[in-house]
Amino acid sequence: MGARSNLVSRVRVRVPATSANLGPGFDVLGLALALYNEVVLEPHGTVSVSIEGEGAEHLERDERNVVVRGVRAVYERVRRPFPGVKIVCVNRIPTGRGLGSSAAAWLGGIVGANALLGGPLDGATLLDLAASGEGHPDNAAAALLGGLTVSGWTDGRVVAVSLPVPPEIHWVVLIPDVEGSTAQARAVLPQTVSRADAVFNLQRVALLLAAFRDRRADLLAVAMEDRLHQPYRRHLFPWMERVAAAARSAGAAGCVLSGAGPSLLAAVIGAADRVALAMESALGEWGIPGRAAVLAVDSVGTVWEPA
Ligand code: HSE
Repeated sequence: MGARSNLVSRVRVRVPATSANLGPGFDVLGLALALYNEVVLEPHGTVSVSIEGEGAEHLERDERNVVVRGVRAVYERVRRPFPGVKIVCVNRIPTGRGLGSSAAAWLGGIVGANALLGGPLDGATLLDLAASGEGHPDNAAAALLGGLTVSGWTDGRVVAVSLPVPPEIHWVVLIPDVEGSTAQARAVLPQTVSRADAVFNLQRVALLLAAFRDRRADLLAVAMEDRLHQPYRRHLFPWMERVAAAARSAGAAGCVLSGAGPSLLAAVIGAADRVALAMESALGEWGIPGRAAVLAVDSVGTVWEPA
């Protein structure tokens, strides 16, 4: 991210898509993917929003717009009156699919406003604002920092670390043509879990990080298992098991719900196209259209430049 002291009158921010959880890392792990939203922001006397691409037909174009709310959050944090803003969004991250479109919108506004104001807030505070807007830090951390991120709350602040991801793992995202609701997918989760299930996930998160560090692809299948969220969300996405099984049969090491769904994320060593096709056709057999894409990992996170 640019750390520039001189004021700029218009900025362009680019924010990557993200996939949270990676199976066991519920509200902890996030992976930034090379699919980007771009937003151009400039000071303005009123709120003016234009949107092209994903979500253009239903996203708000007034003060309720999440990019605008991100801008306002920065003005409030630095105790400056919010005069309004003109934003032009080019959205490539599908909305309501578990690919971090909401975190990307928060960060577009937050990073853009901070740049317009000459950078009064540091990166950690930008992340706090985005994670507070979201309610959980996993997508926001990955979108801001890039790579694979580990994040959590402590004393009302976010701590986050970005780790490299082995390049031999290919990531396939299956995006169904239906929107999911994160609120609904969180409402179905139990308030408490058994110690056995907590330990099951702790073991797998640790194994997953070890597998990435030591490039142990053989551990991925076990390391991407989960008992904290997917079992409770299965009924929202009845096709999930079948599609994940098809992905594994076609060679995926693991296949999990992307964030709160409905997209699925598969980790593949080898021929990813074959896995993408298998996932698409298994979804199609349920009568649900969708598309699968092989996406590279984004390792830089959110960036901005004068526009
Ligand atoms: N970790 C969150 C969840 C991600 O699974 O509910 C939501 O995007």
